[in-house]
Parts: sequence; structure tokens; C-alpha cells
Amino acid sequence: GIFISMVAQRIEPNYDESKVPVYELPPLLVSAKGKQIKSIKQWESIRRPEILEMFSSQMFGKTPGSPFTTSYEVVSVDANALDGKATCKQLRISFSNGNTVRSMLMLIYLPNHIKGKVPLFFAYNFDGNQTVSTDSGILFSNHTSENKRGLKVRRWPIEMIISKGYGVATACYHDIFYDEKDKHAESILPLLGYDPGQSLEGDSWQAIGAWAWGMSRAMDYFETDSRIDAKRIALMGHSRHGKAALWAGAQDQRFAIVISNESGCGGAALSKRAYGETVAVITNSFPHWFCPDFSRFANNEQSLPFDQHELIALIAPRPVYVASAVDDRWADPKGEYLSAFHAGEVYRLYGYEGLPSEEMPALNTPVISRVGYHIRTGVHDVTDFDWQCYLNFADKWMK
Ligand code: GCU
Repeated sequence: GIFISMVAQRIEPNYDESKVPVYELPPLLVSAKGKQIKSIKQWESIRRPEILEMFSSQMFGKTPGSPFTTSYEVVSVDANALDGKATCKQLRISFSNGNTVRSMLMLIYLPNHIKGKVPLFFAYNFDGNQTVSTDSGILFSNHTSENKRGLKVRRWPIEMIISKGYGVATACYHDIFYDEKDKHAESILPLLGYDPGQSLEGDSWQAIGAWAWGMSRAMDYFETDSRIDAKRIALMGHSRHGKAALWAGAQDQRFAIVISNESGCGGAALSKRAYGETVAVITNSFPHWFCPDFSRFANNEQSLPFDQHELIALIAPRPVYVASAVDDRWADPKGEYLSAFHAGEVYRLYGYEGLPSEEMPALNTPVISRVGYHIRTGVHDVTDFDWQCYLNFADKWMK
């Protein structure tokens, strides 16, 4: 006979702390073969590559190493932006493999009062470069047809960042992978060997992997700009961009600081807590974000051979900052804190301090060591308070 089994899939968030399963975090400093990792050398040659491989083959997908060429076209330069306080530059970065061409439009503000190379924050925007300022000279990013000019200025305190002596650069993440399922063909994937006619492999990269790749391409540009100090780039990402930022920072050690703003499930939050958004929920709503095999862990988090504290540990010894908002329960603030806390083990191996306590700090009270953390009042968002904390953190580690 034929048995048809109908297993009801739980695809609901959990907001009940008492329903958080008893879980055990995979050890950071024990290798797959059971060897205790006691030195930086063992971490870097044995354990770190193992962890990177797990995230690559089972979560974000493999980043292809296929060749492509890059060209930079400066579209505009305004040396007197923000009443003379900044230089505003726009450039089109084009990628080609001979057949496929894709491009990313980058918007950069550099402080005029700093002589020499400046440190800089890079973060994607969600709705186009023209949303981060009301300046009518800012070009629309690809795919953004309607004029949303200035819509997100609140999240981009450009003057504050400039006045503190930092540059800030942004690009729209849709330029790299338009954030909807089935947009692979239009994304940068075909540039790097993806054949739209073929089905995806279990470890194929998708949107988050592609967004992380785009962050590294921004870094490639910074290395060529004589006014930017590519050794002092802070990579910031909000929410889904925070997931990509952690993954980019893990793979690409050129980023000096990595900042996760409320990245939640698949970002800083521990998957095994299954609190707020779960693996089942996220892989169901966003099948195009992770590699196909990641959905095997839906409602099965206990079988994950890794967890997100290990993603943060891959950034060590570089400074990392994780931020939560108390009403952003969807992103599991406690899970975000615990990840940052547990990653401290690897920072200590390098002789740095991790987060000082396993207790969540008080609201609006940043805890800062080589690992930084805060939980602020309010909802899922990017606020001036968040930016002030990131600027202070950058002052501590990049000045
Ligand atoms: C959704 C998604 C989250 C994501 C967020 C965002 O809420 O479920 O995983 O972080 O969007 O990007 O704002």
C-alpha cells in the first residue's frame, strides 16, 4: 500500500521563552575530529576553515571563484556637498565576464575637514541611493523606478557621520540580487557561472551570498580610492543586510569592523533558540536567501552542526558589534546577545576581551570590548542612537 504522511510543518514564530528548547551550542574550540583548539595557529589552520566550510555548504551557499572583470566609471563629483562639509561622489561599478554585465551604483560622502585617507562606513540601502538624502543630484539605483527621494534620510545621519571624520558609502542591494524569489537570472549569479536553465544545487549560493559578494566588491573599490583608507572600513548592515554583512565579514578579512544591526534569524541570532523568526519561517518566506540545503534544518534546529555564535567568531580578532531593539522580538534580541557573548571565546584566544557578562545589559547601555553590544528601546529600525554607538565603537578601534 501507499502511505501518505502529512506532517504538519510548523511555520510560526515562537514568542514564548518557556518553549525555547534545551539546546547545546556546538563548541567553537573543538575541531571536527575532537581536537582541542588551544592556539591562534590551530584556530586559523584547523577550526576556522571548518566553520567557514559549514556556513558555506549548509547555510549561505558556496561563493564561486569564477573570474570577472571590474570597471569604475565616476558619474559625478561634488566637492561642495553638505554646504561644503563633504565631497559627494557617485560611481557605476560594472562587472563583466565577457557575456554577462551587471552594475552597482555607489554613492559616497567623504569629510572635507580631514586631510589624507579617511575611515569609512559602508552599508547597503533598501530602496535606492536616492532615498538616503534629499539631494536632487543623487541618481536612482537600478530597479527603483519610482521616486522615493529622501524617503529614508532618518536612517542615514550623513552629516553626523561626516562631522565625526568618517566617510559613508552606500549602494542598493537590489543591484546585486533583486530581493524576490526567482530573480536569479537578473542577479549577478549568471556572471559567476550560474546557468538559469539549471536547478539549484543544495549548496548553491543565493541572495544573501550574492549580497555579501557585493560588499566585497565595494571593498575592492575602496582599495583603489586615494582618499579612502581601505584598512579602516566598517561594514554595517541592517536586518537582512546585517545577515549579509556578517557573512561578508566572515569571508573577507579586509573589513576592519563588522556591525550587525538587528540581523536576527540567519544573522546574529542563535538558530537553536528558535525564538521569534525560526529557520522554518525564514526559509519558507525567503526561499531565495540561503542555499537550498539550509531548509533541512526547518523545525530541526537541534541537528544544525553549527550556530550563529560561530559566524561571529569567524570575524575575530576584528572588532564586531551586534545591536538589538527591545521590541524587535522577531529578531530574538536575547539570541543575538548570546551569540555575541559566546563568540568571545575566540576573541579571548587572540588576547582580547569578549562581552563581559552572560546577562543582557540594561536598555540603551552599550557594552563595549572588542565585541560590542547594545539593546535599545524601540522597534526594528536604524536610529541615531544606533549610529552614535557605531561611531563610538569605530573611534575606539579605528582612530
Ligand atoms: C523580515 C525577515 C527578517 C529580516 C527583515 C528585514 O522581517 O523575516 O529575517 O531581517 O525582514 O530585513 O527587515
